[in-house]
Amino acid sequence: MDSISYNAYQEMAHYYANEVNRKPYNALYERPGTISLLPDLNGLRVLDAGCGAGFMSKWVVDHGAHSVIGVDFSENMLAFANSNIDQRCQYHLHDLNQPMDFIQNEVVDLVVSSLTLHYLNDLDMIFSEFFRVLQRNGRVVFSIHHPSMILDMHQLENYFQTQYLKDWWNTPNGPVEVTHIHRPLRDYSEAIYKNGFLIEMIEEPMPLSSMQNIDPQAFQLLSTKPRFLFFRLVKQEP
Ligand SMILES: C[S@@+](CC[C@H](N)C(=O)[O-])C[C@H]1O[C@@H](n2cnc3c(N)ncnc32)[C@H](O)[C@@H]1O
Repeated sequence: MDSISYNAYQEMAHYYANEVNRKPYNALYERPGTISLLPDLNGLRVLDAGCGAGFMSKWVVDHGAHSVIGVDFSENMLAFANSNIDQRCQYHLHDLNQPMDFIQNEVVDLVVSSLTLHYLNDLDMIFSEFFRVLQRNGRVVFSIHHPSMILDMHQLENYFQTQYLKDWWNTPNGPVEVTHIHRPLRDYSEAIYKNGFLIEMIEEPMPLSSMQNIDPQAFQLLSTKPRFLFFRLVKQEP
């Protein structure tokens, strides 16, 4: 099965690196949602799966993490991550649809993955890889499209059917087609459980109150309809 969304992220890298971090949906909703679920970062070795331009990688080392392995399949996104030189962050060009053979077993304390898992073909594979690289009691914090938002936005006929969906993202260089995979929530919970994790927390956060002044329409929307869904998992010992 082909990896999806590669061309889109190659094309959008400049936009993503320079503008997305400042957009209210990211800066005042997604980023704070993910950050709210992070454990104490002090001394942790982190894997940032789908690190993009490296926002979260840099954030965790600046807030106490020991080091980060950032992984992404887009050369253009990684070029932006690498332009922000920090010895604590090592970036790897890699397709997460393949095992991360360059990471040894149990060398990571925390996996962070923002808005990436809905592009991956095989949830079992990625969660078994997270399990393999994580230390005892290691945690995974990730965000995905909220499946009920997708149901609503795409007017799905069948919520339970796993399916490829296309969106058009408006960028300064025109619209870019981005394909993602919709899955019912139970597919995530099955893959999580089957691969040795327990769900510690599920979060459906509110936007930060500062969004009310900056983008009242987005604030109203996000305060009444969830857009992203956030999880914190803990690795169970076999
Ligand atoms: C929505 S962006 C999020 C980027 C970053 N986590 C952030 O929050 O800024 C999704 C990222 O996942 C990456 N991605 C998508 N599919 C991937 C795959 N199969 N392997 C590796 N990276 C992938 C994209 O290149 C992109 O950087």
